[in-house]
Parts: sequence; C-alpha cells; structure tokens
Amino acid sequence: MQILKNISLKPYNTFGIDVLAKHFVSISNIDDLKQILSLNEFPNKLLLGGGSNMLLTQDFDGLVIHINLKGIEITFEDDDVVHVKANAGENWHEFVLWCIDKGFGGIENLSLIPGNVGTAPIQNIGAYGVELKDVFESCEAISLENNQIQKFTKTDCDFGYRNSIFKQHAKGKFIITSVIFKLTKHSHNLNTNYGAITFQLEKMGITKPTIKDVSNAVTLIRKSKLPDPKDIGNSGSFFKNPVISKHQFNTLTYNFKDIPSYPVNENEVKVPAGWLIEKAGFKGKRFGNYGVHKNQALVLVNYGDAKGEDILNLSRLIQKTVKRLFDISIEAEVNIL
Ligand code: EPU
Repeated sequence: MQILKNISLKPYNTFGIDVLAKHFVSISNIDDLKQILSLNEFPNKLLLGGGSNMLLTQDFDGLVIHINLKGIEITFEDDDVVHVKANAGENWHEFVLWCIDKGFGGIENLSLIPGNVGTAPIQNIGAYGVELKDVFESCEAISLENNQIQKFTKTDCDFGYRNSIFKQHAKGKFIITSVIFKLTKHSHNLNTNYGAITFQLEKMGITKPTIKDVSNAVTLIRKSKLPDPKDIGNSGSFFKNPVISKHQFNTLTYNFKDIPSYPVNENEVKVPAGWLIEKAGFKGKRFGNYGVHKNQALVLVNYGDAKGEDILNLSRLIQKTVKRLFDISIEAEVNIL
C-alpha cells in the first residue's frame, strides 16, 4: 500500500474531469483499508469506487481512497437460487457478464451501467424496469467511526428511487466492501415489458429470450442512447426524474399534450427529466468542450478538457430554465464534489 502525492483523478471519474488529489491510495484488501482509516494524519478523506456518479469541481486537499477490492464467490446455493458475493471494486458490467455466463438471472436488465459493485447500492442503480434492490440480499460495510465491519440487510438499506440509507443518514459514515446478490438458476423472471426492450428483441428476431438475449438487447439500447465514458466523459443521468402532483401534471397537459409520465401513487406521477430538458431546448447543445448529449438530454457530457465548474453551471442553467418553463424542480442525481 503506497500513499501517492498530487495524483490526477482524471482516470478515476467517468466524467473525465482533471482535478488533483493531494494524497491518493488504492486499496486492494480489507486489512489495508482498516489500517488507512485508522491513520489520524488524513482527517479529510474521499472515497472513490468506479467514479461514475460524481462531478468533481475542485482539487481535493486530502486523501482519496480508491476502493479496489476484487473477487467474486458463491456463498450459498440450492436447486433454484444462488447467492453471489462480489467485492466492492469489481466493475459492475463485468460482474453482470460473469453472472450471465454462469446462467444466473436477475441483473441482465442492469447491463452496461458504469461504475463498481460497491457503489451500486448507494443510489440503488436501476434501468429498464429493474432496480438493484430487486436482487439485493445484503452488503458489508466498514464503519468510519469504529473501523468495524457491519452487515446491512435489504430492510436496513431502506432503498428508494436512486436512493438508500447510504445517501441519507448513513451518508459518509460507511464504506461498502462487498455485496451479496440473490439470483435465480432457472425459471428466470425476465423483465422485458419495457418498450425499448420489447422493440429491440423483436428487431433481433427473438421470441423466447434468454438472460443473455436480454442483456444483449439492453446493451444495444444503452449504446444507442448513452455515450460510452471511454469516448465521451459523462456520468449517466445527471438529474433524477422529478415526481410531481397529478394536479400539476394535468395543468401541464393543457400546454404540453405529449408530456410523458409514469404512475407513482394515487396522487403523484414521475415525469422524465430528459423530456423536460429537451423541451427546454438543451438537447444536443454544445458549449465548447461540454454540453448536453444529442441522444439523451438527461446526460451532460465532457467532450475534452471541460472543468467540473462549467458542467455544474450548465446543470444550474438547465434547472433554472426547467423551473421557469414548467415550474418543476429537477434535482441532480450525481454527487457534486
Ligand atoms: N425523453 C425525451 N428526450 C430525451 C430523453 C428522454 O423526450 O432526451 C423521453 C423519452 O422519449 C421517454 C422518456 O423520456 O418517453 C424516458 O426516457 P428513457 O427511457 O431514456 O429513460 P429516462 O427516464 O430518461 C431512466 C434512468 C436511466 C435508465 C433509463 C432506462 C433516471 C434518472 N434515469 O432514464 O438511468 O437507463 O431510465 O430505464 O431514472 C442513470 O441513472 O444513470 C441512467 C442512465
């Protein structure tokens, strides 16, 4: 374990923002993690997983801890289900492919989501009708207060839409070190009702899809809409889809007849932020080396050497414009640091 000085975080965040960490350490086992957490000389710490859900706006004047814990193992299985434990530093999509290769179903709809296993529960990643909570069994995390490992069940995590205890009152207090997923070995509960998946499977000529087919379909859909961070820096959806009252929605339909919505409960609906941002005229807008993606207005992009501050200012302009046009507040999904 080596503590490095003045390291660029550009390779460690999918937005590709070039800021410096005063100190940086990459951790590949729990003992090293415990040791580093017990050092008093670095009171200011930043934890970094896949760096896929953050916008860095300034240099970090402390210790960046890169969680690089690797390993996947089966911890339980019977005839029907399997529990797979993955350590926090495993790349999410590679983990999905590992499961599909073994014939384990449940996370195929979550193919190609950037990031690592350890950060996936924090925002309860989701796509195409499936959320991480649907397959989550438990996770382990180190408490930053007492350096002890603690287990969190699904109930403990209090998952919600892009939300969990780790974004609420446990925020900044734990480091997730591993996650156990409960997956199916056969009779998979395929979730192909999402319009785009149905369409893509039809296009592929598949009538009886396997988990591999669903994963391939999702991968193709994501590739067509979402930029690959390897080519264009981005952090997936920059904003959450806002929830508004049915009353407000009905009022909006007078002026915007084609506004889409998804039911939430009796009184509320969710509106796609991408639609609002597109209507506000931002889709595909480029401001020098940053902008709004041309195929999905919910995604802000860094075309080259953009500053985090520029992207943050663009996000604020988008929020202000959407508020003015629709009287809807859209909230950032990514963490701004
Ligand atoms: N839409 C537009 N213009 C746009 C983008 C979307 O009009 O530029 C409309 C679409 O026509 C559609 C609706 O908005 O009617 C929904 O679009 P889409 O299916 O692309 O999904 P989304 O609500 O924009 C959410 C997640 C994505 C996830 C997709 C698919 C959030 C914040 N985002 O996006 O998650 O991949 O559904 O399930 O919930 C992420 O979190 O990083 C992410 C990419």
